[in-house]
Amino acid sequence: MPEPISQTEYWNGDVGARWVGMQTELDRVFAPLTAALLDGAALRPGERVLDIGCGCGETALLAAERLGPEGAVTGVDVSRPMLERARERPTKGAPITWVEADAQVHAFAPGHDLALSRFGVMFFDESRAAFANIRRGLRPGGRLAILCWRALPENDWVSVPRDAVLTVVPPPAPPVPGSPGPFRFADRDGLAALLAQTGFSKIAVTPVDRLLEIGRDAEAATRFAVTVGPIAGLLRELDDADLRDRAVAAVRAAMPSRNPVRLGSACWLATAINPG
Ligand SMILES: C[S@@+](CC[C@H](N)C(=O)[O-])C[C@H]1O[C@@H](n2cnc3c(N)ncnc32)[C@H](O)[C@@H]1O
Repeated sequence: MPEPISQTEYWNGDVGARWVGMQTELDRVFAPLTAALLDGAALRPGERVLDIGCGCGETALLAAERLGPEGAVTGVDVSRPMLERARERPTKGAPITWVEADAQVHAFAPGHDLALSRFGVMFFDESRAAFANIRRGLRPGGRLAILCWRALPENDWVSVPRDAVLTVVPPPAPPVPGSPGPFRFADRDGLAALLAQTGFSKIAVTPVDRLLEIGRDAEAATRFAVTVGPIAGLLRELDDADLRDRAVAAVRAAMPSRNPVRLGSACWLATAINPG
């Protein structure tokens, strides 16, 4: 068995490169979810904001626009290639500082008004330490607003291609509970309890359900599904090119025939306050 790689290696290797390559497409597909996060975060002009696991920068850039020139955004991520992409992108509004650091242990400057994240907080090895650390970067009364995936079967945009792949390849071992991964916070009570244990109050975990347009047709939707996200992970482990081609063909056949291809997604929007 090969040694499991760290999250830093993971997001600096092939996976980070794929997210960079698909940045425009990912941001287009996730736009309805991004809007829900930013609305839930209730940004006010002039605020100081942290974007945790900011990746290629979309949420930091959109937050900066809403904050205006008096605000400030710090985007933190462990992935150098994704931060490089973020740095290349034009900014409007608040200045943005991009920081290559591990949010679990980085010494955030205190006093931020808000820490937000779009799918950047499910990959910590030590979630308790990480959220306690993020909280220390907030002023008393400062807010947390994070978006994370609900369970896999509720996310058709993942389960439809996944079920198709599993007609060709055997299912992977189920993830170890509590281990880093996209569905790490699928359990609402577990997420709320974690935030309470790490010192947050006024915790609200609300469902966000949106149709995602994952491609203009089945071909484009298949490319999206097999390039980034959980299905890409399944296929990456296949050495056999023939088997891989059969799996991709099964995904294409499973895509809805109506264009553009839309599939359901299900997230939690978790908001909370740092009581100080
Ligand atoms: C699913 S991606 C989401 C990226 C971005 N927020 C977006 O929505 O496009 C997860 C991100 O979390 C980052 N990440 C994972 N562990 C991290 C950590 N310990 N500290 C900071 N960033 C981390 C990854 O490098 C990656 O950019």
